[in-house]
Amino acid sequence: MLRHHAWRTCYFIKSPHPKLPNPANEKLFVWVGNDIVPRQSAKVSVFDSVVQGGDAVWEGLRVYSGKIFKLEEHLDRLFDSAKALAFSNIPTREEVKEAIFKTLISNGMFDNAHIRLTLTRGKKVTSGMNPSLNLYGCTLIVLAEWKPPVYDNTRGITLVTATTRRNSPNNLDSKIHHNNLLNNILAKIEGNNAQADDAIMLDKDGYVSETNATNIFLVKKGRILTPHADSCLPGITRATVMDLAMKENLVVDERRISLSEFHTADEVWTTGTLGELNPVIRVDGRMVGDGRVGPVTQRLQKAYKKFTVESASKKSPSFHIFSPINPILATSKLSQMHPS
Ligand SMILES: Cc1ncc(COP(=O)(O)O)c(C=O)c1O
Repeated sequence: MLRHHAWRTCYFIKSPHPKLPNPANEKLFVWVGNDIVPRQSAKVSVFDSVVQGGDAVWEGLRVYSGKIFKLEEHLDRLFDSAKALAFSNIPTREEVKEAIFKTLISNGMFDNAHIRLTLTRGKKVTSGMNPSLNLYGCTLIVLAEWKPPVYDNTRGITLVTATTRRNSPNNLDSKIHHNNLLNNILAKIEGNNAQADDAIMLDKDGYVSETNATNIFLVKKGRILTPHADSCLPGITRATVMDLAMKENLVVDERRISLSEFHTADEVWTTGTLGELNPVIRVDGRMVGDGRVGPVTQRLQKAYKKFTVESASKKSPSFHIFSPINPILATSKLSQMHPS
């Protein structure tokens, strides 16, 4: 009776088959635990830590021309985050790589793909918060989707400042890339309500930290500024863009930046794996510069694109090479990393 009522309520509240943003993602294969399964069967246990407490770490990675950009850097951050949260029975780097490669090969994804890599503390023997209840080992999830950069990088995006603050090391260290994303989600809701593309989040002292999903930069009188990484995620795209800017002989400073400096900047952009380098044309209703994508932004967008293309060549150490016809990767068995 209760089940029937619940089904009826859900059925009438929302459509059971919403349209996907990209129909090509209807038939995906997803790595969960130690298996690849079709999208509709890709599930974690209700006892999993990620369900019980958002107790997981994650990375977003992008595939360019058959190579995963900055794979080693992303895995370094994943393993550092898992260590900081004292996970145990963590799969090895080789096991994680093999799961990623097998997922990409199963989906035939060699370009225009984004990977959401999640490692949870794993299943618990009974519900509860205590990590000592996690006796099954970590759960690894590799969700690869067809997803080109998600922002309008040609015309630019708009930002508003959220009232929700970014975590500081006082409470939850932003250097841990964890799944407790509620404050970012609250900031994103503020952005949605203001019809902006994303929301700027301030740190505990009122200085700009980043947006709900990306790092942030400004240009004033030819100098590039970005907040130091005390309250923001030290983004891998952020580091890449800073390196590229220095190679272009541009001056880059990391320091505390107040909101009015963003309101009066000549150029603003955000960075992240999901969207690459995103020009910002409006912040809190103030036009940035002349409201068009500025020259420094364009220069760095070009440099970033060139770098991803060059890095996809076999000579580059930035990418881990995988091949759709590698018989060892395609057939080898992964060791048990999730003995449930
Ligand atoms: C809050 C936040 N800031 C910035 C970033 C960008 O980081 P990266 O450049 O390593 O993708 C992310 C990406 O996950 C993020 O979640």
